[in-house]
Amino acid sequence: MKQRGLSTELIHRGEDAPVRADPVNVPIYETTTFLFENADEVLRYQEGKVDKYLYSRYANPTVVVTEQKIAALDRAEAALVFASGMAASSTLLLTFLRPGDELLCSAAIYGGTFHLVNDVLTRLGIQVRFATLEEFGDPASLLGARTRLCWIESPINPTLRCLDVAHVARACREAGVLSVLDNTFASPINQQPLALGVDLAMQSATKYLNGHSDVTAGTVSGSRTLLQKVDLMRRFLGGVMDPLAAFALARGLKTLPVRMARHNATADAVARFLEQDGRVTRVFYPGLASHPDHAIARTQMSGFGGMVTFEVAGGLDGASRVFDRFHVIRRATSLGGVDSLVSLPVLTSHYNYSDGDLARAGVTAGMLRVSIGLEDEADLIEDLDQALG
Ligand SMILES: Cc1ncc(COP(=O)(O)O)c(C=O)c1O
Repeated sequence: MKQRGLSTELIHRGEDAPVRADPVNVPIYETTTFLFENADEVLRYQEGKVDKYLYSRYANPTVVVTEQKIAALDRAEAALVFASGMAASSTLLLTFLRPGDELLCSAAIYGGTFHLVNDVLTRLGIQVRFATLEEFGDPASLLGARTRLCWIESPINPTLRCLDVAHVARACREAGVLSVLDNTFASPINQQPLALGVDLAMQSATKYLNGHSDVTAGTVSGSRTLLQKVDLMRRFLGGVMDPLAAFALARGLKTLPVRMARHNATADAVARFLEQDGRVTRVFYPGLASHPDHAIARTQMSGFGGMVTFEVAGGLDGASRVFDRFHVIRRATSLGGVDSLVSLPVLTSHYNYSDGDLARAGVTAGMLRVSIGLEDEADLIEDLDQALG
């Protein structure tokens, strides 16, 4: 064969070699596109007669494997992964909402979701109705003729208040309204949205699912019929997950059950330590009998998660003094990773809220939110003890 030029060689040499390896792990298919033999194969692909990959914005083998793991985790027929939790939420919402539809939304949701629905969806002619946790006590009364979708979160940030998920899901189903639960704080190990009757489970996989604070990702799980629609919208909006991130997420998922068991156990011990400490005015943990939604949490959660919020006297000054003294627990926002992280809600998720809005959210300036990681329990409790001064 004629000697080819160096550039051609460097681009093509080895690429067509048949793979003769049997890796234990699914390789990272870091390719944007996939080869076809001839025009007939392209045509058969387009006609759905051959099962092949075409283009990574549509589907990618590494990403598909990660989606299969998410479907297993949520006990769902199908799942999709996204470039972030917000990409998952926006794609889902734009799949099902049309101008004139009403979105019923819990007032107690993640700030990014709040801005997405309040600032963006409303511009597209979608009406958004926010309801408080108390109003969700009678969900049927909130569902009108134009309500198309209901978006809830439980437990919520930072008070870890819980909604009765099965009650809301039942009312939605009876009214023909699609229900969605952002399950990020609980994780599917502790709470199974689909088993509770919710149509679609959404998660920021940036948190517990990946678990190492090094991947930004989101997921949506549910029936094959619903997910096919979301899949089509994901192709148009383009918020797909990169194969490298999918590989890392798949690795994180393999240890999720053991990580969650440890998060649950250590957070429970930390919450109990804080509750008996006189320097702490209030502790918020769904596993404590003192939590306002402990009874609901017990019915719908099999573990209470790794998030603990507590309050000290002295408002923001008092909380800041404690915040600044941590040595093991690290000062950063986000949650669900191996590292314990602490944040001040009024300086992060609830920054710039009016006093009235803070009161409605049940958030005070003296609150600290801790994401309990996988460090040794004794070291975390000692760190909290010394930080409390
Ligand atoms: C409850 C909840 N939902 C959604 C998101 C958005 O996820 P991401 O940051 O992965 O886009 C977050 C992020 O903090 C969150 O806490």
